[in-house]
Amino acid sequence: MQDDMQDGMQDGVPEGGAAAAVVDNRKLLLHATGLHKSYKVGGEKLEVLRGVDMQVREGEILAILGKSGCGKSTLLHVLGWLDKPDQGRIMFDGVDRSTLNAQERARLRNQVMGFVFQFYHLLPELTAFENVLMPSMIQYGPMAWRQEKKHATERARALLDLVSLTPRAKHRPRQLSGGERQRVAIARALQNEPRFLFCDEPTGNLDGKTAEDVRDLLWGLNEEQNQTMVIVTHDAKLASHAHRVVHLERGRIVEGKDLDLVEEVALDS
Ligand SMILES: Nc1ncnc2c1ncn2[C@@H]1O[C@H](COP(=O)(O)OP(=O)(O)OP(=O)(O)O)[C@@H](O)[C@H]1O
Ligand SMILES: [Mg+2]
Repeated sequence: MQDDMQDGMQDGVPEGGAAAAVVDNRKLLLHATGLHKSYKVGGEKLEVLRGVDMQVREGEILAILGKSGCGKSTLLHVLGWLDKPDQGRIMFDGVDRSTLNAQERARLRNQVMGFVFQFYHLLPELTAFENVLMPSMIQYGPMAWRQEKKHATERARALLDLVSLTPRAKHRPRQLSGGERQRVAIARALQNEPRFLFCDEPTGNLDGKTAEDVRDLLWGLNEEQNQTMVIVTHDAKLASHAHRVVHLERGRIVEGKDLDLVEEVALDS
């Protein structure tokens, strides 16, 4: 059955049809096939991903929806090379994850991927500004840092301003509200101008107005810089503006921009 489906596809995209023709013009940036992931707790195996196939093209905004606990964060971590699948293949811009060692993976990830974690993962001992700056320090290392410092600090300052947090630049994460931490996490994810942005519930802790500002920010990046994004969200409005919506159900991806379903998921959450 799987083979039959693959026969009618090129790069995982169905042949023919107007929609397929439009999507086909863009470069295939992320291509995952047959992803499996399970956890073992107390001798019991919990199968979370059971054969996920996914393609994301350059410039695309893809929203992933699904009920709480269905595996969205697990999937995002696997797609973003933060976690290893038990089975399956992930290609990023033609590079197969499994062909790189841990150091090469970390370097490439730092250069080309930005990640907004569901629970932020800010470094507690650093200020908001230093947290945003950190990906650049990692990218350049101590030798190149002297040359890059000016540009990197200017960018970190501009990003903090973009998420309206200039007045909180010197605050440590524990001195910030949940929404402010989330905005620092978004600024940090953008610091290295990633080609691909993963966002896990980027508006999950924001009020309506701030959520709208974050939406405008992300969509502005897409329009102005062709930013590619995969966004896990319960925010129906955010999902409704995505180019493509998929649902994670029983460990598999179900395609389709079914906005009634978006609202159902939002109400369920
Ligand atoms: N490290 C882990 N060890 C064991 N089980 C885990 C681990 N991480 C997640 N799980 C389990 O795997 C399932 C999927 O978790 P995941 O965090 O991916 O869900 P989610 O869809 O992101 O949920 P939510 O919408 O609530 O954030 C859950 O049932 C969770 O309990
Ligand atoms: Mg989650």
